[in-house]
Amino acid sequence: MNVVIGVGLRSGTPYTELIELVRRHCSGDVRVIATRTGRESEPALQQLVDELGADLRTFSAAELAGCETPTPSDRVLHLTGSPSVAEAAVLATGAHLLIPKQQSPNATLAVGRLPAPGYPADEREVVQRVIAERRDVRRGFLDVPVADAVLMPVLEAAHRAPSVGLSQPWDFLLIRDAGTRRKVHDLAVAQRDVFAVSLPDDRRAAFDGLKVEAILDAPLNIAVTCDPGRGGRHVLGRHADPRTTRFSAAIAIQNFWLAARAEGLGVGWVSFFEPGEIAAVLGLPAHLELIGYLCVGYVDEFAPAPELVRSGWARRRPVSWAIHQEQWGHRDASIVTDALSAAQTAVPAAGHRIQVLVGGETSRLREPDVLVVDLRAEQPPPDFGVLWRPARTPEEALEYGVEIARDLALQNAGHLVVQVAERSEHAEALARGLTIGASACGLTHSSA
Ligand SMILES: Cc1cc2nc3c(=O)[nH]c(=O)nc-3n(C[C@H](O)[C@H](O)[C@H](O)COP(=O)(O)O)c2cc1C
Repeated sequence: MNVVIGVGLRSGTPYTELIELVRRHCSGDVRVIATRTGRESEPALQQLVDELGADLRTFSAAELAGCETPTPSDRVLHLTGSPSVAEAAVLATGAHLLIPKQQSPNATLAVGRLPAPGYPADEREVVQRVIAERRDVRRGFLDVPVADAVLMPVLEAAHRAPSVGLSQPWDFLLIRDAGTRRKVHDLAVAQRDVFAVSLPDDRRAAFDGLKVEAILDAPLNIAVTCDPGRGGRHVLGRHADPRTTRFSAAIAIQNFWLAARAEGLGVGWVSFFEPGEIAAVLGLPAHLELIGYLCVGYVDEFAPAPELVRSGWARRRPVSWAIHQEQWGHRDASIVTDALSAAQTAVPAAGHRIQVLVGGETSRLREPDVLVVDLRAEQPPPDFGVLWRPARTPEEALEYGVEIARDLALQNAGHLVVQVAERSEHAEALARGLTIGASACGLTHSSA
């Protein structure tokens, strides 16, 4: 425990009195002794600091007066300029007060506890920087081998990832062989074509200009696998949710990605694979799953923003949309109110057309620009052309509509055609939300 003591004392307080007061009320390891500025020259306090090996922190009377304490005193205010010294000094360090003011003839003492410390500001800044400057890289790989001395610490960082029940379900298959990479590349090219065919024409034209992998360009490829059964029956925390084992392997990849960025290594994650096909090419044992396929190597630059943002393919979602207070949907600013005010100043957006069918009509799903919003309670079969939004109230349906439109705008939609395929109060509310969300993002919209 990180104990903080706050001390108030008169000039000339004997050390024996002070240490006796401390011993009577405080048993843990004292890390910090806090007091009023000017008292640091008191011999008893100096001896206490030396004896306990603690840091001394001092606060001005004004700083102490700014702390609200349980035992303020007019007499102390008159003598020192703040209504409390010992308690206020504890609180001024940021500690939580455990024992309020205790007294001896010449001194006062309060005891508090500090949370475990974080890192100093400059080190915290580095962590934030690595996170912000990590990039998915597909261009500019250099034909420079990655030495084991550089790679091993990065793999160790991956291997230090948290995992459900400490099951450590990942393995790292390092692939440098050009022949294997060629076969993997062929799979990715085929899936690229499958995806391209699924796109509306203008979206497909934009996709043609994107690079989605660097399998042959990067000198090192790494397949990160997951053994979902690793550790047997009694892995702690996995029994109720088997997905946790895949989450663990994904976190290992994130650790890898960040540590690689710090080493100046670019990493590009490729997922343009049908799982069975890539497993066969890599010769994976049947019990393993591929979680991520990474292209790794030195690069000529790390772009300042995601490639998909820079190319105009998609945009980042504001963090405020992602934070809910206590209950899902309770954001600091209501998404509907926020959208209504954003609509006042929205800049017209250029982008592709999407026809949103509110209701369960799935027969038109083969058309690339059709998106069905299914409001029924029963979950439909998985299909990215269907958004399942079983709204519990019309208000929730309205919010879903706003959110769907805004998320489609982030994926570069420019015009929404809204059609209510099955009329109901919820469907009408959702359709209204779609038009509000569209207006907020400068999307044109019409109804069919
Ligand atoms: C699970 C996963 C799969 C991804 N698959 C691909 C992919 O197949 N091709 C690609 O170009 N980028 C892929 N990415 C990278 C994302 O496009 C990228 O992370 C996103 O655009 C944000 O950019 P940033 O990572 O540079 O911040 C993938 C990312 C993740 C997390």
